[in-house]
Amino acid sequence: MILTVGNTKGGVGKTTLAVNLAIARAWAGRDVWLIDGDRQGTAQTAISIRAESGRQPGIACATYPDGQTLRAQVQQQRGKFDDVVIDAGGRDSTSLRAALVLSDVLLVPFQPRSYDVWALNDIAALVDEARSVRDGLRAFAVLNCADPGEASSDNAEASAAVADVPQFAYLATPIRRRKAFANAAGAGLSVLELKPPDPKASAELSALVNALFEG
Ligand SMILES: Nc1ncnc2c1ncn2[C@@H]1O[C@H](COP(=O)(O)OP(=O)(O)O)[C@@H](O)[C@H]1O
Ligand SMILES: [Mg+2]
Repeated sequence: MILTVGNTKGGVGKTTLAVNLAIARAWAGRDVWLIDGDRQGTAQTAISIRAESGRQPGIACATYPDGQTLRAQVQQQRGKFDDVVIDAGGRDSTSLRAALVLSDVLLVPFQPRSYDVWALNDIAALVDEARSVRDGLRAFAVLNCADPGEASSDNAEASAAVADVPQFAYLATPIRRRKAFANAAGAGLSVLELKPPDPKASAELSALVNALFEG
């Protein structure tokens, strides 16, 4: 499956979730390829740190900030992998547009503030564009950095907001604001690998993985 974690807005948790999802799939026994479509290369840096520390399972990772290169590479290499996870962002990013046309699933992380919810309309236009080229793109929005204390009201408001953007289905598997997510992804790890473990973070990630890949 080709999954893009994308949003035209920065700082919403694309890289954090892409790194966590890629590693979680590798632990599930899948051959995973993580593609960094952002020229800042944050996901690539995280995976380099992982590789240098010798951590297994290793994750294949490449950076293609240019859409044309990303498309050509994914078309050529996808058969070698069970899952491809693409971290793509940027309002005018050619890599995001290319990724959407190639993807089976788009995951849009957004934060429980109105500005982020409005930004969903931006990326909804790109979803329409991708669907006009190729049928079958499933698009989901998920809360990231949800407040651990006010989970249920955040969730209710977020799902109502997503209901106004018909291109997306709301995934009721929010990821909450936890140091574990920031610490793990920065070190090229999934929260599933942290010692000592963070059971709440692990449960949230596992629920998201199940919703995306088994749902
Ligand atoms: N669920 C979370 N809990 C705590 N911090 C988070 C979470 N998700 C992301 N962050 C932090 O928020 C910042 C932006 O996340 P990042 O994944 O880099 O966003 P993007 O790739 O969309 O720009 C980073 O400092 C990251 O560590
Ligand atoms: Mg990023």
